[in-house]
Amino acid sequence: MSTPLNGKTALVTGSTSGIGRAIADVLANRGVHVIVSGRNTERGARAVAEIREAGGKADFVQADLTSADSARTLAEQARSVTGQIDILVNNAGVFPEGATADTTEELFDAVYNTNVKAPFFLVAELVPGMVERGGGAVVNVSSFVADKAAPDRVAYSSSKAALNNLTKAWAKQYGPSGVRVNSVAPGAVVPEEVQAAIADDPRAAAAVDAVPARRFGLPREIAEAVAYLASDDAAFVHGAFLNVDGGASVA
Ligand SMILES: NC(=O)c1ccc[n+]([C@@H]2O[C@H](COP(=O)([O-])OP(=O)(O)OC[C@H]3O[C@@H](n4cnc5c(N)ncnc54)[C@H](OP(=O)(O)O)[C@@H]3O)[C@@H](O)[C@H]2O)c1
Repeated sequence: MSTPLNGKTALVTGSTSGIGRAIADVLANRGVHVIVSGRNTERGARAVAEIREAGGKADFVQADLTSADSARTLAEQARSVTGQIDILVNNAGVFPEGATADTTEELFDAVYNTNVKAPFFLVAELVPGMVERGGGAVVNVSSFVADKAAPDRVAYSSSKAALNNLTKAWAKQYGPSGVRVNSVAPGAVVPEEVQAAIADDPRAAAAVDAVPARRFGLPREIAEAVAYLASDDAAFVHGAFLNVDGGASVA
């Protein structure tokens, strides 16, 4: 399950840290020229340097994904570095807490702008090129809360439900042209170093106890699922929702 992706190009949004960074590492390791993106130029430069040190290809394009224009500009700049984008990973996301009555319009817009509007206009900008070339892949990073709903993060969970609907619409629209659109739904994912730091936190213990895997996920485990969906190993996989959540969706 690890067909090389040599010669392909990818834009991974939100790849300056966390899950996105792991996705960039895994794709670069499989031979993809990765465009690392995010707001933080320092972490972006570090990601590029580390990928190159490991023998991979990467460049950084800074973006604050808050509007259609920012998404279009990122798409153009990414394309100007690699010539074309074969794989789009819509990973950048914000997930602030907030029940409905506590959610300001500003917070609501911030969540929807980054989690829904940016993927929407990145697809609008980049997928027509994939269609013209007769192939490509989009992987949307969703969440286990999209289906379950999270009343304490209601803007967030509803934004991921919207993204899931877009995954279905895009799979139907673009699949016949050879562009596969799929989704990975992570459960609670915590980098290894952070897991050690919260080992004694009772809320962390409760979160772990609530899932069949009895542990947090690691960014790399999500990245492997994204790489699978982006590769020809998943050539017959369209419009899928791959839960990588330690069983949270059935708990
Ligand atoms: N961790 C989890 O438990 C979990 C569970 C389910 C789903 N997810 C989803 O997985 C994705 C990644 O989450 P994560 O845990 O890796 O989060 P993270 O460590 O906070 O990383 C989020 C990434 O998104 C980027 N980002 C945030 N706002 C942005 C903006 N306005 N414009 C451009 N980039 C922006 C950040 O880059 P900069 O800081 O450089 O801007 C960062 O690279 C998200 O879509 C999240 O909803 C995470």
